[in-house]
Amino acid sequence: MEDRFITSTKNLTDSEIENSLRPTNFEEYVGQCKIKDSLSVYIKAAKSRKESLDHVLLYGPPGLGKTTLSHIIANELGAQLKITSGPAIEHAADLAAILTNLNENDVLFIDEIHRLNKSVEEILYPAMEDFALDFIVGKGPSAKNMRLKIQPFTLIGATTRAGMLTNPLRDRFGIICRLELYSTEELQIIINRSAKILNIEIDEQASIEIAKRSRGTPRIANRLLKRIRDYAQVHGEGKITKDIADKTLDIMEIDDLGLDFIDRKILGSIINKFNGGPVGLETLSATISEDSSTIEDVYEPYLLQLGFIARTPRGRVALEPAYVHLKLPNNN
Ligand SMILES: Nc1ncnc2c1ncn2[C@@H]1O[C@H](COP(=O)(O)OP(=O)(O)OP(=O)(O)O)[C@@H](O)[C@H]1O
Ligand SMILES: [Mg+2]
Repeated sequence: MEDRFITSTKNLTDSEIENSLRPTNFEEYVGQCKIKDSLSVYIKAAKSRKESLDHVLLYGPPGLGKTTLSHIIANELGAQLKITSGPAIEHAADLAAILTNLNENDVLFIDEIHRLNKSVEEILYPAMEDFALDFIVGKGPSAKNMRLKIQPFTLIGATTRAGMLTNPLRDRFGIICRLELYSTEELQIIINRSAKILNIEIDEQASIEIAKRSRGTPRIANRLLKRIRDYAQVHGEGKITKDIADKTLDIMEIDDLGLDFIDRKILGSIINKFNGGPVGLETLSATISEDSSTIEDVYEPYLLQLGFIARTPRGRVALEPAYVHLKLPNNN
């Protein structure tokens, strides 16, 4: 029974498909060249010294490949990867247990590391710096500091918000990598590779079109590809053409730059309700009923990259290209 569920592509869930599309080594990992180049040097050096790799902080908007990259780093190191996340570690003792169970040079991945609570985070400081856990045993005047050595390990922290990390934590990462949005060419390579894995034929013009509308983000590129594949199998001849891609993207209300209705709501609101801004993030969030952290993490990076909005000390402002794109008059 189980075999049938696993082998049938139809029954694969979204996250299973995401896993199947996930590159497993640097060669398959498209783009982010500077990060790949420096990481491969550090990894080679650590391996030749038989030491653990320095701690790595990966930050950048969702879906750019932080989790994927941490798997690759562990792979390339030939190390075990243990995965957890900031909100999952509730108590200091939970983290202490994870740390004492690590083997030499293992990689510990903590996703959403900005969401660790203070008492848990404090366990990490000596662990990262000296590979040790500090305890206080007993109470009152007879209390004693105890230090327990742990195996050397590499911590990989991932966050969409480097700004929310405390200074002492950030300072303990030897390698800090900021992931950038991907170019259309890079996304096209990712789409072609995914189409091959999903076993669907795709025209060059179609993959360019999907790439252009993926807002610089591989996860979105893969997601669009899957939706368009469904459409192609039902309404087309099982092949993704530019026509099929255009039609599906139009149905999804994704415009030629990849903006969806929420992007347009954000821009429209800054322009129409706040006369082009500046408007504070919280006010904007209340006006369009979207969570402010979602606006900041998910929507803004791409709008900033397009030069559609700017962040100023007094709030967000809409810039000329946004007016042009939305075909709205700029009276400022
Ligand atoms: N450089 C890349 N080359 C090819 N595919 C990629 C690349 N980066 C990401 N992907 C694809 O995008 C998907 C999402 O990537 P991933 O889960 O690593 O993002 P993330 O940065 O961890 O996102 P989040 O912040 O939401 O956790 C992966 O399943 C993978 O298929
Ligand atoms: Mg992730």
